[in-house]
Amino acid sequence: MKIFLDTADLDEIRRANDAALIDGITTNPSLIAKVAGDRDPKEIYREIAEIVDGPISAEVVALDRETMVEEGRKLAELHDNIVVKVPLTEDGLKACRDLSGDGIDINVTLCFSVSQALLAAKAGATFISPFIGRLDDISGEGMQLIGQIRQVYDNYGFATQILAASIRHPMHVVESMLIGADSCTLPPKVLWQLSKHPLTDTGLDAFLADWETLDVEL
Ligand code: G3P
Repeated sequence: MKIFLDTADLDEIRRANDAALIDGITTNPSLIAKVAGDRDPKEIYREIAEIVDGPISAEVVALDRETMVEEGRKLAELHDNIVVKVPLTEDGLKACRDLSGDGIDINVTLCFSVSQALLAAKAGATFISPFIGRLDDISGEGMQLIGQIRQVYDNYGFATQILAASIRHPMHVVESMLIGADSCTLPPKVLWQLSKHPLTDTGLDAFLADWETLDVEL
């Protein structure tokens, strides 16, 4: 099971990478806009690729197939680990087919239904990104979507990997894993929340208090 970090914040990426806890990075135009300032996004993608040795999703911003393919090729040239992210639209699916035909890994994003996930797999996507949190936000069933995509992909032997996205809290991660997602992409905050448990904290406090009574050093 792979864990990706869903951010373009270089400090957060370094912090998680230093702990060797992440397998790659996903970004989107909003996440790039948060950190870019006057920097060229392509520089940011290159810098991320220097830090993390794994797939790095970089999204096209055109809406038509031809320009998406042009943008996708440019992004893919930045580094061998770049995965081109395209939206789940008719043109996005066509661009997915074109770019994957060139040997470029594609992450099809903004997926909210099983039928969309089916078409992404047919179009040769390496990853499909179902947005769990945004579905839950509108009283949908994000986790049910992950389970249904798993079933369809398994029924028909699709190799497209399910990358659970729009993760809001640790239980989204745990449930995604239990239901069979191949990977999750987490905001940094959720990654660190995964390590927390109140019994760990109280247990450690008690161990250290008991050790103090010995008045010795290791
Ligand atoms: O990167 C795509 C996805 O993870 C976005 O999440 O929190 O903006 O719905 P969110």
